[in-house]
Amino acid sequence: MEISNPLEELSEEELRARLEGARLPTHVAVIMDGNGRWAEKRGFSRIRGHEAGVRAVREAVTACREVEIKYLTLYAFSSENWKRPKAEVQALIKLLKDYLVGERDELVEKQIRLRAIGRLEQMPADVRAELDKTVALTAQYDKMTLTHALSYGGRAELVDALRKVIAAGIREPDEEAVSRYLYAPDHPDPDLLIRTSGELRVSNFLLWEISYAEIYVTNVLWPDFSAKHMYAALLDYSMRERRFGKVSGGDGGWT
Ligand code: IPE
Ligand code: IPE
Ligand code: MG
Repeated sequence: MEISNPLEELSEEELRARLEGARLPTHVAVIMDGNGRWAEKRGFSRIRGHEAGVRAVREAVTACREVEIKYLTLYAFSSENWKRPKAEVQALIKLLKDYLVGERDELVEKQIRLRAIGRLEQMPADVRAELDKTVALTAQYDKMTLTHALSYGGRAELVDALRKVIAAGIREPDEEAVSRYLYAPDHPDPDLLIRTSGELRVSNFLLWEISYAEIYVTNVLWPDFSAKHMYAALLDYSMRERRFGKVSGGDGGWT
């Protein structure tokens, strides 16, 4: 699907300048899609696309940190991605492990707290060990919270939350009770959801949390997603009117 995002025609500098004083999202969530197509277009293996995707992760993190986005959540590996060919899954897991080790200094330097959401117990023990180490090392930072969704599924998160609600003996759960048992109950809901590669779907990402997120879809394939594209998405967001079911300029209403 071809989508037009005229702001992406502007330069990074111009976009940065326009972001000065703009209303920015507190929490940005990204469905990083298109690594495979990026590689196939170049005659490379899909795995090379994932390798190139790691560079784009670094750039997105840096770009968000620069403009003081407080929460960035990246969909790195879905519950359904386990069904991909074994070699691809293995390569993704290896890249993740290398990233968790390789990124430590940078996260410390930038004072970024790393977290993960998902059925993390499904990750191999060595990856979990590196993850725990990076999470512990960065736990005290508060400039930005960078969350990786790993072996993550939105429906699985809701099932896991409901099980915890039942285990806590809550017989008549309300929305607040469900929210309390999500994977990251202390994170605010995403304000902006970005999806790359032009696909118009949410693919089981943060189903509960994105209820009122503004959606930005770009045709850019994830490995080509740069600071400029992030800033275009943020600027686009800053011009949206969020109504949360109310009417523009309304005066309170019934309840
Ligand atoms: C996103 O890129 C990365 C993961 C899902 C892990 P894809 O691998 O889905 O790339 P396409 O969609 O096949 O191009
Ligand atoms: C969503 O992308 C998952 C991640 C980005 C990790 P997919 O490529 O797996 O989703 P579909 O298959 O296009 O829905
Ligand atoms: Mg995909």
